[in-house]
Amino acid sequence: MSLENDPLDFRSDTFTKPSAGMREAMARAEVGDDVFREDPTVKELEERVAGLFGREASMLVPSGTMANLIGIALHCQRGDEVIMERRTHSFAHEVGGGAALLGVLFNVLDSPNGIIGPEQVRAVIRHKDVHEPISRLVVLENTINLAGGRVVPLEQVQTFRRLTSERDMRLHMDGARIWNASVAGGTPLSEYAAEVDTLSCCLSKGMGCPVGSMVIGDSADIERARWYRKMLGGGMRQAGVLAACGLYAIEHNLPRLAEDHAQAAELAEGLRRVLDDRHKVQDPETNILMVHTDGQATTEETLTLWYQLGIMALPLSDTMIRLVTHIDVPQGGAAEAIRRLEKSKSG
Ligand SMILES: Cc1ncc(COP(=O)(O)O)c(C=O)c1O
Repeated sequence: MSLENDPLDFRSDTFTKPSAGMREAMARAEVGDDVFREDPTVKELEERVAGLFGREASMLVPSGTMANLIGIALHCQRGDEVIMERRTHSFAHEVGGGAALLGVLFNVLDSPNGIIGPEQVRAVIRHKDVHEPISRLVVLENTINLAGGRVVPLEQVQTFRRLTSERDMRLHMDGARIWNASVAGGTPLSEYAAEVDTLSCCLSKGMGCPVGSMVIGDSADIERARWYRKMLGGGMRQAGVLAACGLYAIEHNLPRLAEDHAQAAELAEGLRRVLDDRHKVQDPETNILMVHTDGQATTEETLTLWYQLGIMALPLSDTMIRLVTHIDVPQGGAAEAIRRLEKSKSG
C-alpha cells in the first residue's frame, strides 16, 4: 500500500486513536459505578496491572498528571521537599501541581542526559534541622521524555532505592512510558516496580488508549490513593469502557512496541543522511527521537519544510525537535518520511 499521500504524524504517542478492535472491546465492556467499586472491568484491569507489575494493587486514573500528583500526595506533607531532575515531567510539564495543590517544594537537579546520580541527590538531602524542609521523596522518570525517551537502567533505580531507604525517604517512578523502557532494555516491569514505593504508568501513550493511567503500589497506599483521586475530581463512574481499552492494549499493543522502537531507529538513521550538518540527530533508545539544531537552522525553518511534505513533529524549543513513533504511524512510515525528504532535497 502506498503511503505517498498520507500525513505522517510524529508529534506524540498521545495522538493515537483507539483502533477498531479497541472500540469493540469498549462496546462489549461490562460496567458499573466505579466510585462504588462496582465496575467489574475496572477491577479486572486494576488486578491485571498489579499482577503484571508484581505489586499488591493498582488504580485507574484519568491522566498521568493525576497519577504523579497522587504519587506525591501519598508520600509528602505540605512543606516537604521532592527531588528530581530538571526535565522530569512532574516539574517541567504538570503545571506546578505539586506546589500549587500539595504545597511541596521541588528541588531540581541538572544532568547532561536526564539521569541524575544518587551521589548528586545525596549531596542535597537535608539533615533533619529545624530550619530546613524535610527531604521526603525522589521522583525518577522512565523513559525520560525530554531526554529523548532515554531508559533508566534497573541498576540505577536500585541505587536510588538503597539511598532512599537509608535516608528514610520514598521513591516514586513516573513510568508513563515504562512499557517502552521494559521492552527496549529487556527488564521486566515487575523488576522496576519492586524497587520503588509507587509507580505511575500511562495507557494513553504508546499503548494506544484514548484515556487512562495507573497508580501502582502496596494495598495500603492504593487504598489511600482512592481518597486523593476522589478529592481531585478523578472518581469515574462507568469507567469500564476505558478499562477495557487498557486490557485490550496489554494484550494487543504491548507486544508490538518494539516495532515503534525500530521505526525510531530507522528514522534516526535516515535523518542523519538527509539533514544538513546544522542538525544533530540523537540516538533513540525507544520511540522518541530528538533532533537538535545549531541555532543557525531554526526548528521553525526545519518544521515548515517538513509540514509541507506532510511530516509532523513538535518543536520543544528553538533548537530541539521531537519525533515520536507509535501505533498510528503506518508500517513503512519512517522510510516514507525519509523518501520525501530525499526527494525534496534532490528536487
Ligand atoms: C513522562 C510523562 N509523564 C507524565 C505525563 C502526563 O500524562 P497526561 O498527559 O496523561 O497527564 C506525560 C505526558 O506526556 C509524560 O510524557
